Amino acid sequence: MRQRIDVGGTHGYPLFLGVPLEELGPYLENRYGGKGHYLVITNPVIADLYSEKLLEGLKSFRVDLITVPDSEEEKSLDRISKLTEQALRCRADRDTMVLALGGGVIGDLSGFFASIYVRGIRYIHIPTTLLAQIDSSIGGKVAVNHSSGKNLLGSFYPPQAVWTDYTTLTTLPWEEIQNGLAETIKHAVVADPMLFDFIEDHTNDILNRDIKIMKELAMRSMAVKVKIVTDDEKEQGNRILLNLGHSFGHALETDEAYKGVSHGKGVSIGLVAVAILAYERNLVSEKQLERIVNLLTKLGLPTKIADRDPQILLQLMAADKKNKAGNKVLILPVGIGKASVANDCEDDEIVRAWKKIMN
Ligand SMILES: NC(=O)c1ccc[n+]([C@@H]2O[C@H](COP(=O)([O-])OP(=O)(O)OC[C@H]3O[C@@H](n4cnc5c(N)ncnc54)[C@H](O)[C@@H]3O)[C@@H](O)[C@H]2O)c1
Repeated sequence: MRQRIDVGGTHGYPLFLGVPLEELGPYLENRYGGKGHYLVITNPVIADLYSEKLLEGLKSFRVDLITVPDSEEEKSLDRISKLTEQALRCRADRDTMVLALGGGVIGDLSGFFASIYVRGIRYIHIPTTLLAQIDSSIGGKVAVNHSSGKNLLGSFYPPQAVWTDYTTLTTLPWEEIQNGLAETIKHAVVADPMLFDFIEDHTNDILNRDIKIMKELAMRSMAVKVKIVTDDEKEQGNRILLNLGHSFGHALETDEAYKGVSHGKGVSIGLVAVAILAYERNLVSEKQLERIVNLLTKLGLPTKIADRDPQILLQLMAADKKNKAGNKVLILPVGIGKASVANDCEDDEIVRAWKKIMN
């Protein structure tokens, strides 16, 4: 079933859901006219699987396809510089539109590139992972990483549209589905207790990748994100709550130089850490903490990490973008379905939470 949801705000844009890749071309022709230059940015894995389908619909346009190696490490200024050289060789100008075909890495990198190339060109997200479909393609946050911190260089730069073809999920490895599930559980814990119940009730269907359930899960998860980013485009208010679990998760990702734990796995571990912290502050009950840990475990997501120095992880949390005036700002769950901002977490408390999730 095809659907259209509009993300509101100053620069609103449509999300097209359940639409085939090959139909993007006709849509572009209809909306922007039959001529134009499109720069498809993707990686070799996704290009092998899906570029033919996408290019099929783009035959009437001038199109260049650029592939970047498949790695989180490619979300870097170095890659932005290389993309600039390649785009210039393709004679990309201010009328060129970027088509970001891939997961969150390609989306964040291509969106950031589009935001600064010749002071900004238009782009469209074509998300091919569950995480990108339910989360990273929505909300206009684009960024690259820095050795000092995850997503440290970036901007708010909304796309023209998001084109979501669910059939791309059929080739996605289970491990990547799990990364998307971690963000879905985060959405549920932050704002939608019924989504949490739904996931609990359908863990077996999800493990079996039942397409009907996966689509409903994706839809409900997207709805949470769309509502929050429409109400708060630039993270001046409630949008910050979507960072639940990320302060801990990003520290882990940075500690492993973006080569160890994946983003979704980092979020899963981070969710447990903040749930423990919230439990110690009586914000969540023992039962609710248990439900969060059990749900992540049932879906095969990590809830523990190997022993390591918590002080190093604590230091890495100092680079978190949410921090204010040197104070660590953490998002804590309040039961299941609500979250709050905590500006007063002591380092000791944070270290205790790190220790509790170590084996
Ligand atoms: N901008 C935001 O608001 C936001 C939100 C959440 C996460 N993120 C970012 O998203 C990134 C993680 O994204 P991700 O989890 O999609 O990872 P990813 O982009 O690395 O994709 C995961 C893997 O799946 C492969 N892949 C992609 N689509 C496929 C398909 N259909 N079939 C087979 N293989 C496929 C990719 O080649 C890659 O190896 C992180 O960098 C994170 O910081 C951004």
